[in-house]
Amino acid sequence: MNDRNPKTFHVKSFGCQMNVYDGARMAELLEAEGMSAAAESAEADLVVLNTCHIREKAAEKVYSDIGRLKREDGSRPMIAVAGCVAQAEGAEIPRRAPSVDIVVGPQAYHRLPELVTRAKAGERALDTDMPIESKFTALPARRKQGPTAFLTVQEGCDKFCTYCVVPYTRGAEVSRSWAAILDEAKALVDHGAREITLLGQNVNAWEGEDEKGRTQGLDGLARALDRLPGLERIRYTTSHPNDMTEGLIRAHGEVEKLMPFLHLPVQSGNDRVLKAMNRSHTTASYLAIIERVREARPDIAISGDFIVGFPGETDAEFEDTLKIVEAVNYAQAYSFKYSARPGTPAAEMDGQVPADVMDERLQRLQALLNEQQLAFNRATVGRRTSVLLERLGKKPGQLIGKSPWLQSVHLETDASLGDLVEVEIVSAGPNSLAGAQA
Ligand code: 5AD
Ligand code: SF4
Repeated sequence: MNDRNPKTFHVKSFGCQMNVYDGARMAELLEAEGMSAAAESAEADLVVLNTCHIREKAAEKVYSDIGRLKREDGSRPMIAVAGCVAQAEGAEIPRRAPSVDIVVGPQAYHRLPELVTRAKAGERALDTDMPIESKFTALPARRKQGPTAFLTVQEGCDKFCTYCVVPYTRGAEVSRSWAAILDEAKALVDHGAREITLLGQNVNAWEGEDEKGRTQGLDGLARALDRLPGLERIRYTTSHPNDMTEGLIRAHGEVEKLMPFLHLPVQSGNDRVLKAMNRSHTTASYLAIIERVREARPDIAISGDFIVGFPGETDAEFEDTLKIVEAVNYAQAYSFKYSARPGTPAAEMDGQVPADVMDERLQRLQALLNEQQLAFNRATVGRRTSVLLERLGKKPGQLIGKSPWLQSVHLETDASLGDLVEVEIVSAGPNSLAGAQA
């Protein structure tokens, strides 16, 4: 049945920003092979589902998505499952979903063209290796870009939080080289990027040697990018509290292009729970970091991740999470119900929390976080600030961009996408701001 010769493709990425980055790289790779991108999976000969395994819901979604690729006439595209579900489930995927032709893990996707060739020959092609050679060296150069771009500088995780699949799906912590990162950043800027977000599961654990052989951390990288002509903004995500070095904290007060925004997950506000999560930081050490970051950059927006209902979490321990949220005052945050993941230590722990208790805790936490987000947004009304225009709005003449604090700002303007404009913030809602060009 597999005599198809795919000429068009569509990559659909789920989950984190690193998947978005990987999806863009896979698209560039397929284009370099002479295939062209289709806007929708319905129009594509090859569909790549770039999946997320972080929580059960995300992981299960792939199977319904595969089912939906079947067309009215009974045909289907060539189907590749990439990303962290591919890594975690491997050969189990075609067993459950026989229409899958290709399974490719996050460290092996540079081999996608070979896998497509094998699939064309009717073979089922599976590659979940974590090869020593880095995929990055095998990928084609970066190409067309919008005003904002992601750039993976570090991948994998050695922290082994007890709830988390990432150390298993993405592998050990690896930093890309200084030269490779700066080269890719230059290529992105040459192709229109004005903002680069440095990505890593533990991006602030990035380490390397600069061209003079000096050891550098993420702060050194930010300082080097600060000198890159044409680049206007630098962001990074996601960070672990234990890798928040003094140098990086200082950089927030000194590096002009480094945006005043820090995503620093704490997960819980209770020290017993943090210990059971193997987070290797305490609430006090986390709060001390936030204080130092705010000393370095008083207007910095703090963001975080939270898990409610970790096994054994009591009502009182959950209340501590509300307390740390009160203490930090977040500009925005992500919060999740704990999801037991196969193979992780927490999945085997006693005291799994019932679903209704988790629901209630999540609602209370999100109500508080939403309140803080709205207050943060409202506090920017009346301010003049820069906005990087990223995409078209729904109304004619309307463009949408981001403030330095990562808020979406809608405005009517004659300026173009990619422009950095001075804006006065005129009103604020929970999820976006309205501005007028100043
Ligand atoms: N259940 C719920 N949330 C999780 N996260 C990671 N693993 C799990 C899990 N098993 C959350 C953490 C992490 C974010 C990316 O996803 O908050 O910071
Ligand atoms: Fe997962 Fe913890 Fe590593 Fe983050 S630091 S990727 S939560 S194991």
